[in-house]
Amino acid sequence: MTVESKASDSSVVIRASQVWKSYDEGTISVLNGVDLEAYKGEAIALCGPSGCGKSTLLHLIGGLDEPTRGTITVNGKTLGRNRDMVQFMRHEVGFVFQLHNLVPDLTMEENCLLPAVAAGTPRGAALDRLKELAVRTGLGHRLKHRIQKLSGGERQRTAICRALMNRPGILLADEPTGSLDEKTSGAVFDLLLDLAHTEHVTLLMATHDRALAAACDRVLEMHDGRIRTDR
Ligand SMILES: Nc1ncnc2c1ncn2[C@@H]1O[C@H](COP(=O)(O)OP(=O)(O)OP(=O)(O)O)[C@@H](O)[C@H]1O
Ligand SMILES: [Mg+2]
Repeated sequence: MTVESKASDSSVVIRASQVWKSYDEGTISVLNGVDLEAYKGEAIALCGPSGCGKSTLLHLIGGLDEPTRGTITVNGKTLGRNRDMVQFMRHEVGFVFQLHNLVPDLTMEENCLLPAVAAGTPRGAALDRLKELAVRTGLGHRLKHRIQKLSGGERQRTAICRALMNRPGILLADEPTGSLDEKTSGAVFDLLLDLAHTEHVTLLMATHDRALAAACDRVLEMHDGRIRTDR
């Protein structure tokens, strides 16, 4: 294990133990024994060359796919396939992707309410939460706008709001600013980091941007499906 305790709160919220992932009956080996511990409230950058397995690891931690071998625990619960797990993950984990993955024909408000409704949150409470997030991301005036009318930065900020609607303890971000210009990218990242810190969310972010990575509490380097070093 190449990790060290970092955050002020020392509780482990994500633990990956000897996680392996292969495709096509083992002929394509992507993750080759990943060990990772993430602590409550810390921001971690996951760096490494294209194809080294960053997105694959995020998908496994988010329960979107299963490891071939090894275990992943989220808040002490070992991930596996069952109905309870889907609801558990809805509450525990938020996702922000490189391409926002919002529904273009729906408004910002409608997009953000979707995960809250799926998690069983009453509409009034969900709307209150959304208004709070919209104000904090500078999108209070955009609630009724369709996604297709928003700028790239506004879409990513909407995606951040959507990911935080259910007050997850963990935010997984896969190159969340990868589709934005440098200035917008910096602004969206600052917002993401600020929200993660103020909401005590553990942020795990795959990025090729070394400047953004350096602003995180810790940087994990992936290479050939393993985590090599960290600080
Ligand atoms: N469903 C799949 N079947 C076969 N191979 C896959 C599958 N999904 C991913 N891979 C392979 O796994 C490797 C790791 O992919 P992954 O997307 O995790 O890399 P990455 O580190 O996120 O790269 P990038 O920085 O380009 O986003 C790649 O070689 C990819 O082709
Ligand atoms: Mg990727």
